[in-house]
Amino acid sequence: MTSAVTFTACAFDSGFGQDASPFVPRQPAVFETALPIPPLAESEVVDGVRVFSLTAQEGRTQFIDGMTTPTWGFNGAYLGPTLRARRDEKVAVEVTNALAETTTVHWHGMHLPAAMDGGPHQPIEPGGRWRPEWRVDQPAATLWYHPHPHGDTEEHVLRGLAGMFILDDDQSQTYGLPQDYGVDDIPLIVQDKKFLADGRFQLDSQGNEVGLLGDVVLTNGAWGAVFDVTTELVRLRILNGSSARTYDFAFDDGRDFSLVGTDGGLLETPHSTDHVRLSPGERAEVVVGLAPGSQAMLRSLPPDLGAVAVPSAYGGLDDFDVLLLRAADQLQPSAPLADRFAAIPRFAADDADTSRTFEVQNREINGRRMDMDRIDEVMQIDTTELWEVTNLDLFPHNWHVHDVQFQVVDIDGSTPGPELRGWKDTIYLEPRRIYRIMMRFEDYVDDEKPYMIHCHLLLHEDEGLMSQFIVSRDDARRNVGDTDGNGGHGH
Ligand code: C2O
Ligand code: CU
Repeated sequence: MTSAVTFTACAFDSGFGQDASPFVPRQPAVFETALPIPPLAESEVVDGVRVFSLTAQEGRTQFIDGMTTPTWGFNGAYLGPTLRARRDEKVAVEVTNALAETTTVHWHGMHLPAAMDGGPHQPIEPGGRWRPEWRVDQPAATLWYHPHPHGDTEEHVLRGLAGMFILDDDQSQTYGLPQDYGVDDIPLIVQDKKFLADGRFQLDSQGNEVGLLGDVVLTNGAWGAVFDVTTELVRLRILNGSSARTYDFAFDDGRDFSLVGTDGGLLETPHSTDHVRLSPGERAEVVVGLAPGSQAMLRSLPPDLGAVAVPSAYGGLDDFDVLLLRAADQLQPSAPLADRFAAIPRFAADDADTSRTFEVQNREINGRRMDMDRIDEVMQIDTTELWEVTNLDLFPHNWHVHDVQFQVVDIDGSTPGPELRGWKDTIYLEPRRIYRIMMRFEDYVDDEKPYMIHCHLLLHEDEGLMSQFIVSRDDARRNVGDTDGNGGHGH
């Protein structure tokens, strides 16, 4: 965005008496607002299909005393309800677009046919409807949904379109994990925002290389939120739903907690740690215990962004409070947490049928920007792939793959830490390091409809740091997109 564009917007707005100067929040935030819990979405089982309804709509929300913010939400003014389904269930979502512009709804982390994916190729026009249907075919996990219209994703998410999609399976409910939604199993959608003095969201990233970094951090839409803990253990399903900010979540007293799950499901064993880094789009499920009558502040510490050039410009030096956990004087006993969860069958580099190299630089993958009409990669059905992914820039990027969950084999040749040994769909890319990841394509062949691979820093995605792949049965289509000889593809 050039400054000229910003200037025009200001001039236009002042004509309507609006004040586009930035709102300066009090710091530190005061923690006294009850944490809102997104409601569980209602659903109806019709002919064996669990059907949800989502309507993207406009509304107004008061986040800060004395200020009203025009917002977008699903089935309400801001954010959306939590969808919840079980493995093997058939689900459908009736999506209605009541906005004045085209949007889409993507099921981030979901394994499903490309035509149901809700990426840029499934636009829903104003007043339009879309009804994807699929069978849940993956382990219990904390997924989410958000718009994915090409070029406008950052704005649509910033305005408030996002929600969680929780999957359960038979095993996941036998490990003693807190699972009473809203009581000891808490969704936390963490998003940083910037406000203008008249209450509107700042939607422009103001020239920052990584996109918008806000100075007000909302959890489920509340600034300075407090959660009243009533049980010995609490499970937090933390989603980084921000545009550009990477967080390093920890508690103010440095206490340990158990990291039990990552993007695509539970880890094999709980991992005791005192912090967890999440870049945009990533999730972590953590279990933490509080003593009766005590409190603990969930904070974000300055995240280790790797060898970035200017950490201060990318949020690398920022720390702030996120959510106050306040325990009652008497807590309900919690079940002991199992020390093993389900085994995760591991890929080994030797198992790869195909390898690919991806270099991320500026807004390009292997030297190319997103082109809606170009298929960049063709994955063969029933093959296991090994990808080498590198961020060549000295600023942050991350890497998100649609359709499948992957495993991180190694980073610069070393086995990753426990936090990267479970299923992932999004990983942070520290500059100039080589991430080797593996995944398998075993269903949902479609020679027309692509899935996306992209940076989940939403500005980068909007500006073209995205490529498209199809899953095919036809050998002749292998590398069909590699027409300009750019980059290393299947070899
Ligand atoms: Cu969370 Cu392609 O998106
Ligand atoms: Cu990026």
